[in-house]
Amino acid sequence: MKILAIETSCDETAAAVTNGRQVLSSVVASQVEEHRIYGGVVPEIASRRHAEAIVRICEEAVNQAGISLNEIDAVAVTYAPGLIGALLVGVNFAKGLSLSLKKPLIPVHHLRSHIAANYITYPDLSPPFLCLLVSGGHSHIIEVLDYTEFRIVGRTRDDAAGECFDKAARAMGLPYPGGVFLDKIAEGGNPDIYKLPRPTVSDNVYDFSFSGLKTAVVNLIHNHKQKGEEISIPDLAATLRQRVCDMLIENTLLASKDLGYKKIVLSGGVSANSELRRRMDEECRSHSYSLYYPELKYCGDNAAMVGVQAYYEYQKGNVSSEDLNAFATLPIN
Ligand code: KG4
Ligand code: ZN
Repeated sequence: MKILAIETSCDETAAAVTNGRQVLSSVVASQVEEHRIYGGVVPEIASRRHAEAIVRICEEAVNQAGISLNEIDAVAVTYAPGLIGALLVGVNFAKGLSLSLKKPLIPVHHLRSHIAANYITYPDLSPPFLCLLVSGGHSHIIEVLDYTEFRIVGRTRDDAAGECFDKAARAMGLPYPGGVFLDKIAEGGNPDIYKLPRPTVSDNVYDFSFSGLKTAVVNLIHNHKQKGEEISIPDLAATLRQRVCDMLIENTLLASKDLGYKKIVLSGGVSANSELRRRMDEECRSHSYSLYYPELKYCGDNAAMVGVQAYYEYQKGNVSSEDLNAFATLPIN
């Protein structure tokens, strides 16, 4: 089943053609350079750029797949969660396309598609498994019971892991998107120089809290500046990265032990983090767990993962009529 998938939930205009789990083409137009000037995504600009790019990106995806538009069996689109104006560009375009081609329209939840990125990298991976989903907007530990069945075990109480990285990186003077640059600079840093708190959440042991860490970084920088003291950004970045990874890894391992999962999957933009991958590799090897994480090109936002998840949604009958709407927030289940 050939699916033309569209993703416009944040600052990437993406289209892909997939066939089951197979990716026939995947095109991503990133707006990151433009948003970098402002230090973060400007929603108005994001929507406008999506509207300008979407026709060309979809055409490119179809051409690169070596097919014609008439050979498409269905149109899939990310409809939630994300920036509402940005999502609406993709949803409206997909509705128009599905109507004119007379092909089914498959709405796809953004977080479900991030998990599906792993189905591309590992053709034999199948649920059930435990997933740590960490992106710019979400940090969840999820029981993936089936391709379209999810149970949230733990979640962040405040900021997402990616948001914490991005905001702390901004305070450190690193470019947007901060998480990527913080990860790179942390490689040369010593995580034992600066003291940062180890946040805990008392009533649900699987939940996360990152905003205290972010505030501690901002305060530490401020205090050093006031005293006229130099600060080592690599060391501070390494400390923050270690604290964030500590929390992500400890909670995921605890949940997998308590719930009896031996298959652990990472997903979302932050699953590209080198320390997270490295340490999870070591932990899973020592516990005899199998670990899965997407190829780097499928960690961040892309439409190939949307097409693959759409394939499973379609099998469950999750198709939409022409009144499909977009939602800024919507739980995964
Ligand atoms: O999944 P994603 O592309 O978009 C959302 O759905 O939010 O995730 C973007 C987030 C950003 O916060 C970005 O800084 C973070 O993923 N990120 C990273 C790395 N690469 C991307 N964070 C830490 N280390 C990385 N290597
Ligand atoms: Zn995303």
